[in-house]
Amino acid sequence: MIFAFVFVVGCSTNSVSDISSDNINQSEQDESQHDSVSDLSTESNIIEQGKSAVVYFSATGNTAEAAQIIANETGADIFEIVPQEVYTSDDLNYNDDNCRANQEMNDDNARPAIADDLSVVSEYDRIYLGYPIWWGTAPRIIQTFLEEYDLSQATIYIFCTSGGSGVEQSVRDLQSLYPDTNIIEGKRFSSASAEDVKSWIESLN
Ligand SMILES: Cc1cc2nc3c(=O)[nH]c(=O)nc-3n(C[C@H](O)[C@H](O)[C@H](O)COP(=O)(O)O)c2cc1C
Repeated sequence: MIFAFVFVVGCSTNSVSDISSDNINQSEQDESQHDSVSDLSTESNIIEQGKSAVVYFSATGNTAEAAQIIANETGADIFEIVPQEVYTSDDLNYNDDNCRANQEMNDDNARPAIADDLSVVSEYDRIYLGYPIWWGTAPRIIQTFLEEYDLSQATIYIFCTSGGSGVEQSVRDLQSLYPDTNIIEGKRFSSASAEDVKSWIESLN
């Protein structure tokens, strides 16, 4: 049975997302069948102008996998946004209205703390910023990141993984929340492969 539910994401001007939990579960199964990062080339193939960084948040590893491939393909430095309080599986149980992730997404002011100092990101011209889609948009910790660091010098390319939702709504939300930040593109990886990543990066150059 498909159980569709609707969730209004507080930070967004018009982001009401219909998502199916079956859809999410199915896609998570699909995600688990990805090539492992270690199977993929670690040689950087794409020459880029300026200094590039991959910065990502990943609660269960899917976005981490895509991030690692992007770093491998571009030669970019890679930084993980690690939450000060790591998300447990109970925290991520979106079927429970009161789970931590849902509470945060329902609260416009939630800004989960980041464990490490990532101020070095201010030195990069190009940032690939990745996250999982939560309730149609970016997890609140991405707002923590965008508010905590000066990214005015950077062009920020968004990528995400999800159970099926696209990246577009999250990009629109972040663009409208942070109009002075140069967020210009978005890509969802359903099953990130080196080939997918390569053609995305090439499309940006
Ligand atoms: C709280 C929560 C909300 C989610 N909401 C969505 C959603 O709206 N649409 C969707 O397609 N997937 C949704 N998902 C599934 C994740 O986006 C997907 O599993 C993602 O690949 C996880 O990435 P990660 O392993 O890097 O954390 C949600 C997952 C969680 C934990």
